[in-house]
Amino acid sequence: MRIRFALILIALFLPVSGAHAAWPERPITMIVPFAAGGPTDVVARIVAEPMSRTLGQQIVVENVAGAGGTTGTIRAAQATPDGYTLEMGHMGTHGAAPALYPNLKYDPVKDFAPVGLAAGTPILIVAKKGFPAKDFKEFVAYLKANGDKLNEAHAGVGSVSFTTCAFFNSLVGAKPTRVVYRGTGPALNDLVSGQVDYMCDQIVNLVPQIQAGTIRAYAVALPQRSPALPDVPTTKEGGLPEFQVSAWNAIFAPKGTPPEVVAKLSGALQKALEDEGTKKRLLELGADLSDKAARTPEGLRKLVESEVSRWNKSLKSAGVTAQ
Ligand code: MLT
Repeated sequence: MRIRFALILIALFLPVSGAHAAWPERPITMIVPFAAGGPTDVVARIVAEPMSRTLGQQIVVENVAGAGGTTGTIRAAQATPDGYTLEMGHMGTHGAAPALYPNLKYDPVKDFAPVGLAAGTPILIVAKKGFPAKDFKEFVAYLKANGDKLNEAHAGVGSVSFTTCAFFNSLVGAKPTRVVYRGTGPALNDLVSGQVDYMCDQIVNLVPQIQAGTIRAYAVALPQRSPALPDVPTTKEGGLPEFQVSAWNAIFAPKGTPPEVVAKLSGALQKALEDEGTKKRLLELGADLSDKAARTPEGLRKLVESEVSRWNKSLKSAGVTAQ
């Protein structure tokens, strides 16, 4: 009797696991919920390449921008859970968005199968070249006095740039005109050309422009300076220690994606992040690769749960809304 029962179990189980052993059999789409050329796109394209090599199928980035990243994230949450649609989400789409969108059409925890953290992305406060302030202290003083005459760029409600600068503006008491873009890639172009005055953005989008001197970096919102930009002081050095925030980018699959497929994806991501060339490219752009625990599906789930509750509290206490 027991042997027969065991055989049924095996028979029941065998087709399921077998079914996914051949995955992937065709290219995989990775949704980036912002415009091409921005920080999320940069991180996605850097890890997609070595992951494609490991998986033996191309990971194709598709930019689906809009509504601070929630448009692309809804698309990912509703995609067929067969392992062929992924998303490079981040601290905004899978952390802050629930606090800013009362009727958000996805749940960052329940509607996704987390794959793993790709990179931590420290936040910089940058301004157009020639901004009338010689250092961060003067920058904050100028914002306090003239904030309502300034244009601040961001990538939509719930994005990292929107959320972190809303927090920053509330701390310094600045009320700039908040100019929305489909991503901080296009926003950066307008900062370089001086059409907007400042923004809070992820370091991986900014290092080349800062090194080229086409924009001005006032401070990094980290406890210590970034090794990629040793000349840029911290907000603490600049007299605003309470503004310390870092973003992150991570890969998600839709809920219901087979665990074996998620395991293969997570394995490919972790292998990519151990690859010397990939590490070098990310570290040169100031990415933080220290959080290895969140590189696993379970580790990322914990990160998302804690980020959703953290941003819920801090945005509410700072009185930050979608307006
Ligand atoms: C982007 O890739 O454009 C950014 O992640 C936007 C943001 O969240 O600020």
